[in-house]
This record gives sequence, C-alpha cells and structure tokens, in this order.
Amino acid sequence: MYLGLDLGTSGVKAMLIDSGQKIVGSASAALDVSRPHPGWSEQDPADWIRAAEVAINGLKETHAQALAAVRGIGLSGQMHGATLLDEKDAVLRPCILWNDTRSFREAAALDSDPQFRALTGNIVFPGFTAPKLAWVRENEPEAFAKVQWVLLPKDYLRLWLTGEHMSEMSDSAGTSWLDTGKRKWSENLLAATHLDERQMPTLVEGTDGAGTLRQELAARWGMGSGVVVAGGAGDNAASACGMGTVAEGQAFVSLGTSGVLFAANASYLPNPESAVHAFCHALPNTWHQMGVILSATDALNWHSSITGRSAADLTNELGDSLKAPGSVTFLPYLSGERTPHNDAAIRGVFAGLGHESSRAVLTQAVLEGVSFAIRDSLEALRAAGTRLTRVTAIGGGSRSRYWLKSIATALNLPVDLPADGDFGAAFGAARLGLIAATGADPVAVCTAPETAETIAPEASLVPAYEDAYRRYRRLYPAIKEATM
Ligand code: XUL
Repeated sequence: MYLGLDLGTSGVKAMLIDSGQKIVGSASAALDVSRPHPGWSEQDPADWIRAAEVAINGLKETHAQALAAVRGIGLSGQMHGATLLDEKDAVLRPCILWNDTRSFREAAALDSDPQFRALTGNIVFPGFTAPKLAWVRENEPEAFAKVQWVLLPKDYLRLWLTGEHMSEMSDSAGTSWLDTGKRKWSENLLAATHLDERQMPTLVEGTDGAGTLRQELAARWGMGSGVVVAGGAGDNAASACGMGTVAEGQAFVSLGTSGVLFAANASYLPNPESAVHAFCHALPNTWHQMGVILSATDALNWHSSITGRSAADLTNELGDSLKAPGSVTFLPYLSGERTPHNDAAIRGVFAGLGHESSRAVLTQAVLEGVSFAIRDSLEALRAAGTRLTRVTAIGGGSRSRYWLKSIATALNLPVDLPADGDFGAAFGAARLGLIAATGADPVAVCTAPETAETIAPEASLVPAYEDAYRRYRRLYPAIKEATM
C-alpha cells in the first residue's frame, strides 16, 4: 500500500492506493485561510498537522489494515508558502501563502535584478517565496533574524513525518531561489535576499526517497518500520503525475482554488516575458510550463458567499446547454493576477450590468470570466512555444458541465474528462510514494487515465466567445487606468 498526502489550501486529503495503483480509500479534513488585511493570506502550520492527522485517522477508521500495510508515502502541497522556523524548528509566524500579494513591492525589486529571471526562468511573482522573505526582513526584522529554515508547506509536513529538512525540485522551482535549468539552489539568488543555502532544505528529485517515517507515527498508524517518504511534488506537478501529464504535448486544465493550464516539457523552456511559469517537473530530467490564475473556483465561491447559494446551485441554475456570452463581463482578479498580467494590485469587476442582470446572468459571467482567464494562459503558453491540441480537465470546478463547455469553447480545444476516479494531487503523490519505495520506472507508473468523455467546443458559439474574449481583454487596461 502507498499513501498520498495532499496539503491543499482548503484542506488535506489522504489517499491509499495498492501496488496495482487502485484507489483503496481516501479521507480529508478542511482548512481555513486567514485574511487579516486586504491582500494577505495566511495559515498556521500547526493546523496542517492537525488536518493531516484527522485525514489519516479517517483512513484508520475505515481502512485500518490497508493503512498498516503502507510502505511508501508521497507528499503534495500548495506551492510557494513561506514556513519560517527557528533553530529549534519552532514556527516563527503564520505561513504566508501562494495567493498572498503583500510583497508586491519586494517582488518588483527582486524582479528588476536580471539574475532572477535568468536563473529561475520566471518572473519573481509576489506569490513566490523569495519576496515574502524580503517582506519579513523589512517588516518583521526580529522574526527574520531568527530564521534558521525556510520550508515549503508540504516540506513542513515532511519535517513532522520524518524529522528531515528536505525538499524536491518541482516545489522548490517556485521559490525564486532555484536555478531551474540546473536543478539546484542558487547561492547568488539566496544571497540577494540575505539568506544562504544552509537555511534551505536538501534537494532530491520528487521520485527519490526523502526521509523515513518516524517510529512514533508509524506505531500510531499501525505501520512497520522503514516507511519511505518520497520527495513528492508541488500540487500542480503532483496532479500531473496523477494525470499522466509527464511527456511533451500532454496538458491539463485544473479548476481548483487557483486555475492552472499545465503542459509537460521534455526540456527546460522558460519565457518569463509571457508570465508563464517554467518549473522542474517531479520526474528527473523533466520540466513543465504553466499559466496560473489566482481565482478559479475561488471566484465562484466568492459569488456563492455573496448570493447565499451553494456553488452547485448556482451552476445548476444555468442548465447544461451553453449560452452565448451576454453583456456582462467579469474579471476574476479577486486577489490580483499572475498570468498574463503579473499585477497584485488589480481587482475584479462586473462590467455591463443592467436591470435584467439576474443572479444566473452573473454566475454565467463568473464562469466565462474564469474561462477567458484560462484562455489568456493558453495564449501565454503559445507565446512560450507550446501548442496544445487538447487538454484534460481536473479539479472541483470540472464537476460543472456548463463550465467545461465554456472552457472548451473559450479555448477552442477539446476538453477530455478522465474516466471515473480521482486523479488529482493526492493520487499523484501516492504514485510518487510507490516509485520511491519500489524503484519502479516513473514513466511506466505515471500513465494517463482513460478518457470517459470529450467535451467539444460549441462550434456555433466560438465566434461569440471570441468577441467576448476581445471585450474581456480590453477591460483590464481600462480598469487598471480607472482604479489606480
Ligand atoms: C502555482 C500556485 C497554485 C498553488 C495552489 O504556482 O500558486 O496553483 O500551488 O495550491
């Protein structure tokens, strides 16, 4: 048996698979995000451990025997978060998360130093880790002075599980300190933020072992000794392992809290000018590109909190047949945006409201706005040399048929839906646990699920979507000009 643990923004998911990669069971526990000031987004790392314990205990209740038979664990996690520890491994302040934009000034300053883009292959986005440390140094110097370790969220779970300070390439590529082409920490980039390599975890590939489960925890869950904890991956690369998106030409669109258009690459293909992320993949000698939008299901959840209706009720209200975009346009920039604007200060908008703009009209605009934001990422990947012919959809948002049709039509690409099952980050993490424990060939393990169904673009609506996308594109500069 192998256990995948995915530390997401909204919860921890634990999944058990057997040696034939069949899902045996899963359990999860919810997490909250604290937003003490506009643009801030934090979590207490102690809550991650509590949630992981709840999820694993859930598996113990339902699948005690299978849990006891675990030989390998894989970790996946929300990327970029800055977990700061002192020399006793005590947490110095709440973790500053990936969608926190407070460090936009520090990010711009680091980004203006050409060695950052040259070595990391990426813009220094405010959500990345290095500018967060620059913010802490400026605003909380006592905490900064005590920083002995900087860990990414899932690597803090590893510390709890194994006692080791270790990380892997895919998540570390999102820190702005990794030389992404060479797959190693850059002393120069660390020095530019007043840190050095001794404060960083030791790096392995995601498929390698990175620690052994502590005896106390193994005993608590009924496991034997020597359970291997794999390097694992950032949640997007972990999902890609789950989806079999590991070779050139394969791509997925993920509709989670954030929205991601992810393409696997056989070589390192940076293009920071188009605000595309170019990161190491979890498999050795493999890289990937992705466009990232900060609010995907987060935008629908916001609309749901305003209207007092569940996200499912809101999307059901639209029915299944796609409508032409109407006069209302929504920009989903509730936390600013990464691809394509790299703009932490921009905020969302509904434009074109009329008396006839019902709740359903607004829901339609929200779904379309996120679809157009993903289209922006498709254009950014094109500019970075990647041409996609189809994408597979994953994430909570892919439960809405209407949304899938809207995305297929906005991208003008067929969208594949995987056959029943859960091929997300926890499954990918479990696969990495299996590979690290058995030495299996990563490409042979990370295969693609069968396609249950393909959602084709709604040909008759492609021109209307194209027009609406042009309107959407024109709104960003206008809103920026009017509100800043
Ligand atoms: C990727 C990113 C998000 C988080 C979500 O760069 O910031 O997709 O990984 O968990």
